[in-house]
Amino acid sequence: MDTKPKLNVYTQQTGAELGDLFGIFFEDLNHAADGGLYAELVQNRSFEFDPVDRHDYHPLTAWEKVERGGGRASLSVEDESPFHPENPHYAVIEILEPGTGVGLSNAGFNTGIPVKAGENYLFSVYMRRSGSFGTPVQVLIEDSGGAVTASAVITVDSAGWQKYEAVLTAASTDNSCRLVILTGGAGRLELDMVSLFPEKTYLGRRNGLREDIAVLLADMKPKFMRFPGGCLVHDGSLNPDDRNSMYRWKKTIGDVTSRPPRRNNWGYNQTLGLGYYEYFQFCEDIGAKAIPVLPGGYDPHHGRIVPLDELGPWIQDALDVIEFARGDASTEWGAVRSSLGHPEPFGLDYIAIGNEEVGEPFFERYPYFHKAIKERYPDMQVINSSGPFAAGGEYERGWASAREHGSDLVDEHYYQSPEWFLANMDRYDLFKADEPKVFLGEYASWGNTYYNALVEAAFMTRLEQNAHAVGLACYAPMLCNVDYVNWKPDMIWFDNHQVFGTPNYYVQKLFMNHQGDRLLHIEAEHLPGQPEALQQPVKGSIVLAAEKSAVTYRNITLTNNLTGERRVIEEIVELDDTEAAASKEEGLRSFPLDDTDWSDYTLKLTASKNGGVRGFLIYFGMQDGMNRLNWELGGWQNQDSILSAVSGGRGSCLTQSLFTVENDTDYELELHVSGRLITAAINGIEINRAEDRLPEIQPLYYTASVEDLSGDVIVKAVNVLDTPLSVRVELKELKAASYTAEVHELSGVALDAENSFADPLKVSPSTRAIAFEGTGFDYDFPGQSVTLLRIKRQHS
Ligand code: AHR
Repeated sequence: MDTKPKLNVYTQQTGAELGDLFGIFFEDLNHAADGGLYAELVQNRSFEFDPVDRHDYHPLTAWEKVERGGGRASLSVEDESPFHPENPHYAVIEILEPGTGVGLSNAGFNTGIPVKAGENYLFSVYMRRSGSFGTPVQVLIEDSGGAVTASAVITVDSAGWQKYEAVLTAASTDNSCRLVILTGGAGRLELDMVSLFPEKTYLGRRNGLREDIAVLLADMKPKFMRFPGGCLVHDGSLNPDDRNSMYRWKKTIGDVTSRPPRRNNWGYNQTLGLGYYEYFQFCEDIGAKAIPVLPGGYDPHHGRIVPLDELGPWIQDALDVIEFARGDASTEWGAVRSSLGHPEPFGLDYIAIGNEEVGEPFFERYPYFHKAIKERYPDMQVINSSGPFAAGGEYERGWASAREHGSDLVDEHYYQSPEWFLANMDRYDLFKADEPKVFLGEYASWGNTYYNALVEAAFMTRLEQNAHAVGLACYAPMLCNVDYVNWKPDMIWFDNHQVFGTPNYYVQKLFMNHQGDRLLHIEAEHLPGQPEALQQPVKGSIVLAAEKSAVTYRNITLTNNLTGERRVIEEIVELDDTEAAASKEEGLRSFPLDDTDWSDYTLKLTASKNGGVRGFLIYFGMQDGMNRLNWELGGWQNQDSILSAVSGGRGSCLTQSLFTVENDTDYELELHVSGRLITAAINGIEINRAEDRLPEIQPLYYTASVEDLSGDVIVKAVNVLDTPLSVRVELKELKAASYTAEVHELSGVALDAENSFADPLKVSPSTRAIAFEGTGFDYDFPGQSVTLLRIKRQHS
């Protein structure tokens, strides 16, 4: 009997369409736009930086006064008569003594402005001066040693604002240059919107994108791009004219001088130079469908809520962006798009309302958006939101809302440990095809090592396998400037002149480059035995803790539910981890349970909070600081009750429900652990329930699809285990013929391997081809590998 392991691919048995399954998500965090994908080289080009954006910002951030050869000048910022009221500030050089030149310089981003020998840089500026009209203004790019590597001369002959432009050609390569603007004469020289772009942007577009980063994105061939956030969308005020406003797309189009500066909630300034027109253009350029995310009239971070009778303009924004993308030039917003340089519609299939909103105000408002959009555009796929947690009250509320209102998709977000992903491979197996589809709009395992990428690849095979229920999925976040990190991990890292993709990037790219159009039925035979169920009960200490709060725990009892044994802890535990605390030494109180074999127990206590911004924190099943479970009540923003697991120092939220801890109130807390099932109750009412499943790694994760145009059969296989697996790949229902299998494989690297500027391709796929006759071939899937087989029939 033939017991060799087999992967049988049924080439005539097609399943769900894969549609737009794998795409990307752009959010301007980690300086992903300014100082990142947006190719502008000048930082704070319109002198609008402000402490509202970041406490140490000011209008001259990144600028310095320059005085040369005995020159003397004052440099200030004024706002009396700007070129454009949306950008009120401009720089004023008051020339006191011209010397050999006075003016200002800009530091760019990271180590400075990067230039390459022989390449052109497009300079532009709005200037006016009070006199000395014949005196030249010199525009210089000076290298890190102060030598001039590119220069141009401009004559400012106007007392009113004028736009001036020049092309500068770099004589040398240097990544730490300064842009210097000098003049002589007397009186005032005033400047605004000082801009320098490489001529070489992605596809040469003006106001364009950094070529190297854009190429990495284009190379992925994503089916869609979600933008512009993330929390960036909904974190802000209700007034669109505030610099602290939620993201209102109409403020981001038109000439860049008319786009207002914006506080980016990730702690910096956003010029909006990369705005909705540029997003749509980029999507078109890389063949990705645009998925704009619009605020739903609710900022869950600050509890800002648009009254229902004032929701009209917010809904109109959604309708208008659809018209902006879809309408012809005879429509109001189609005409705007056309006037910006794109007469033909961009097209739009999807729109998302809200980003991981939690709370009733969002779900009360969502239906108004949904109804208005569907009435005008019945074919538009409208995306609802299910919060930032993989399970729990708000997650369920999002899904219930989607079902009730007929949302096409539900946006799910989770950032979890690799172990959580391994334990939850079957997450979507029972999801139904006739329900709203999953839009996994943000996900990542914590880390950019090969191990993370390997686990994500395995998970992606299951997303693909469940394409009947999973419509869209994108890794997050996408871009990170190494010198401005808000969030880790990220898919692509860069500085001002170089960029590399992480192992996670190469996995995403493989899945996008070879997505296929329809699933093929695939079955494994004789794979090594499925792993034993290793769901050992939760074991370890219980620790009462406080984080950023002052709390008291008393009436503490621990009961073994199987034996009835009861431990009573008489003491009153007072913990203070507030700013005001005299000592932080007393942050934890530990009650060891690891000396027991209790597998079913209940912890009961009375808890009260007397100060601080958070609530209660209980660690249980604690092996050590890096491996434990948490019950956190009133954590970040004091609005949740969360059960989470920490594995190897990496956290995974198991479930969440809304809960706010009030000061000076007694709460009866009850934590019940039974095997790996955890339930938590407050004042006798269950608030959280979760199973902390341990990974049961399958011998192989696999999926198969067919690409309609080429007829190629695509097999993806992920071997997470460290043992190689020799498998016969059989193409069922096909004629014996000559085939080649194009092989793309990630393997042979340590699990902790990462890519870097120095070694950007350390973890990246190798490619080769295998020719075979008949209907199958033997393939050795290496231990810890991601393999992509693209099988083509050879035509004689
Ligand atoms: O991707 C980073 C952040 O994670 C996003 O802004 C937000 O949606 C999520 O919480």
